[in-house]
Amino acid sequence: MVEETLDPADWETLRVLARRVVDDAINYTRDVRDRPLWQDMPPEVRTRFRSPAPQKGRPLAEVYDDLVTNLLPYPMGNIHPRFWMWYMGSSNFTGALGDFLAAIIGSNLGGGDHAAAEIDKQVVNWLKEMMGYPATSSGTLVSGGSMANLIGLTVARNQMSGIDLRELGLGALNAPLRFYGSDQIHSCHQIAVEAMGMGNRALCRVPSDAACRMDLAALHRVVANDRAAGLHPACVIATAGTVNTGAIDDLAAIADFCADEGLWLHVDGLHQQQGAIHVRFQRGSDR
Ligand SMILES: Cc1ncc(COP(=O)(O)O)c(C=O)c1O
Repeated sequence: MVEETLDPADWETLRVLARRVVDDAINYTRDVRDRPLWQDMPPEVRTRFRSPAPQKGRPLAEVYDDLVTNLLPYPMGNIHPRFWMWYMGSSNFTGALGDFLAAIIGSNLGGGDHAAAEIDKQVVNWLKEMMGYPATSSGTLVSGGSMANLIGLTVARNQMSGIDLRELGLGALNAPLRFYGSDQIHSCHQIAVEAMGMGNRALCRVPSDAACRMDLAALHRVVANDRAAGLHPACVIATAGTVNTGAIDDLAAIADFCADEGLWLHVDGLHQQQGAIHVRFQRGSDR
């Protein structure tokens, strides 16, 4: 019986191609300054991305040539040193090698007794150490800021609800929960409160000052008004590096306010692609 396999027909041909890919990638990274930051795709290139799914396989080298011609010359531009459009992560060659090995080993990090799962836990522990978090705290690595914020805000919602919200659902709340962020807040927070079933109105946009930082007097006012209206203020989302200007809210003052008011503090930022860190301060306690 012939064994079916996804192995290449010839490992040596693969080795030659793989070396070419790495050489090209090094040159591409080294020579980034010599290329335009961005260029428009000619119509014939754009058309290639509209073609139907291929019915037959093609040699890998041919597919790679396609990428060299049709992908690499038309990047977003964010790895270019003159990419000044907005705040966005760049690439990193060491990280790319790590990604390559991660894809080679193909681990599932849902659990199991294996080294990749240990690395995952170790990185979270290192982050805790760097942030001065207690050893008993926990965390998880996610795909980026939007996912990190969604998870952090979900924890805030569940903890601040005063009920077993995971079991009972939003319908069992005594009063609608309210979250607060500056008007410079990233759009992923709106997506998060919508996905959490609280609705966009649950996210109050507090005006920002001339430096694009949250106006604390305004925060005090809106929280007091919401309490008076019978709503349930739950969480302040402070930003440590807004997407428009990189402004950093007055984190210490907001933390004091949250401690005094018994609110959850969620900090978005401290990242680019690594994700957000959320922090909770209880009234007069674990600061
Ligand atoms: C402050 C802030 N929060 C959240 C995000 C969303 O992160 P991601 O694009 O990784 O989902 C960004 C992205 O630029 C951001 O700048």
